[in-house]
Amino acid sequence: MFLSKRKPNGSANGKINDDGTLIKLRGVVKTFITPAGNFTALNGIDLDIGPGEFVSIIGKSGSGKTTLINMLTGIDHPTKGEIYIGGTAVHTLNEGQIATWRGTHLGVVFQFFQLLPTLTTLENVRLPMDFCNIYTRPERNERAMHLLELVGIAEHAHKLPNHLAGGQQQRAAIARALANDPPIIATDEPTGNLDSRTAESVMQLFQDLVTQGKTILMVTHDEDLARRAPRTIVLHDGEIVNEYVARALPTLSHELLLTATRQLETHTFAPGESIIVQDAEPEKFFIVTNGEAKVYLIEPGEYEVFMDTIHTGQYFGEMALIHGGKRTATVRAAGSSPVEVVALSKRAFDDLISQSEETRAELGRVAVERRQAQVEARQNIETH
Ligand SMILES: Nc1ncnc2c1ncn2[C@@H]1O[C@H](COP(=O)(O)OP(=O)(O)OP(=O)(O)O)[C@@H](O)[C@H]1O
Ligand SMILES: [Mg+2]
Repeated sequence: MFLSKRKPNGSANGKINDDGTLIKLRGVVKTFITPAGNFTALNGIDLDIGPGEFVSIIGKSGSGKTTLINMLTGIDHPTKGEIYIGGTAVHTLNEGQIATWRGTHLGVVFQFFQLLPTLTTLENVRLPMDFCNIYTRPERNERAMHLLELVGIAEHAHKLPNHLAGGQQQRAAIARALANDPPIIATDEPTGNLDSRTAESVMQLFQDLVTQGKTILMVTHDEDLARRAPRTIVLHDGEIVNEYVARALPTLSHELLLTATRQLETHTFAPGESIIVQDAEPEKFFIVTNGEAKVYLIEPGEYEVFMDTIHTGQYFGEMALIHGGKRTATVRAAGSSPVEVVALSKRAFDDLISQSEETRAELGRVAVERRQAQVEARQNIETH
């Protein structure tokens, strides 16, 4: 389609990093030097985003969302760390190189649209094409018109931006971001200045673009909107919260999610290896981060009853930590490749749930449900 008039592969915008990611950040730090002293807005960001992902970025005001977007788009430079996008080491580029690179690799959409007021909507959309010179002159107007059709405002092509409603201006800004057919759209609070119905239609447009192969990073402080993206990154105090912990324990505050993240241990288990052993003292709480684990009751005579599969993003090991006593089941790494988990010590786990009534209640509910299933399974064995 016209979104990809140029060859989708082989052209600059089809490139990925050597490891298959499209966006890769390693140890990114941003420290602002202010009269009041140094302030670290991003504190060691590691992040991998694959081609075609739709990722929302949430966090309280001041958590570093805009700073992160500015690092990715090359609007600002990291103080430390590395940023690779589509095979380019963005952190090594100078201002001029970044402007050229950004023109074809990344479209940016801001909260306040930032259209040039003296140019028509069509001219605003054509401008990045004039700058990058990929399309021939006759192609540019045609393409700008196509993009305005795509975002549903072709009839406003020849109006000045301030004659357009907010939602229409944002659509124009999205069309402009698509001008040079970049693989990535980065957007900071794109719906922050729109009413909820208009915001909804802009979200729909992003979802359509993802379906057509674009990679979208969307900063928002609206958690409902964020959930519309398949993947959400939580920033707190300039750090990214572990995504698996955020998914497994969604009732924790961002602050507690970060506390948990900092205390995580990572473990890898070979297929079939025990992660938890029945009748042992409980020491840790686990979340599966890659692969799956299987839960078994071990009965006298080494008779085993399969109970449950714990998938990536789910937790286990909470029962004995919450109810006291020994482990009531054995959990083993399943499948044919190593299983990765993150773990919290009993102490870190107890600390965490003592600070979140909601999380304690939710874990307690699951623990009771799982215990009930074990009781029933044991009764079944006895009656057979
Ligand atoms: N140019 C700058 N100079 C000094 N401090 C800055 C600068 N830009 C950002 N900061 C500080 O860095 C921190 C993170 O700012 P950032 O704008 O990234 O937050 P945010 O998550 O986007 O917040 P919001 O939701 O309010 O947009 C804030 O404490 C902010 O004051
Ligand atoms: Mg911001």
